[in-house]
Amino acid sequence: MLISKGLQTAIIDQIGREFGAAMQYVNIASYFTAGNMLMFGKLFFKQADEEIGHGMKFVRYVLDAGGRIGVPAIPVARADFKSPEDAVAAALKWEEDVTAQINGLMDIAFKEKDYIAQEFLGWFVNEQLEEVSKMNTILSVIQRAGDNLLMAESYVMETLADIESVEGGEKKAS
Ligand SMILES: [Fe+2]
Ligand SMILES: [Fe+2]
Repeated sequence: MLISKGLQTAIIDQIGREFGAAMQYVNIASYFTAGNMLMFGKLFFKQADEEIGHGMKFVRYVLDAGGRIGVPAIPVARADFKSPEDAVAAALKWEEDVTAQINGLMDIAFKEKDYIAQEFLGWFVNEQLEEVSKMNTILSVIQRAGDNLLMAESYVMETLADIESVEGGEKKAS
């Protein structure tokens, strides 16, 4: 076994939260899609896929390290958004919480001198920088756009597509 029981338990909790994040993003994407803000809908459906990918990365890690997996219960995701700003603010808050959770996993890996886990978790540390920054950008654009949400959509989509094409190749498997 290349993973301690303690870290395995903590990662399994995180797997539940990553899948929970996916459900949260499905609700946010659906909120935008139902309101005919299709570009934001698309963006958040893509986020949902990414979160499933994060959960699966943790599953694979535990299995590769010789551990066992039992996916925990996933809390019901919010769906009662009052405005686009409310929906994106919820996503930002979520990503900030996830960042703290990933740091918590890293703390365990450091205490245990588990260098394999530290290396593995490093990917998630970088990913959270990207996720928090993305949600921050979307939120501030929505706030600045006021009623002009269609402008906010095309501005965000174009800008993010540009940034991603510049970064392209560096980090495909997010
Ligand atoms: Fe995630
Ligand atoms: Fe995320």
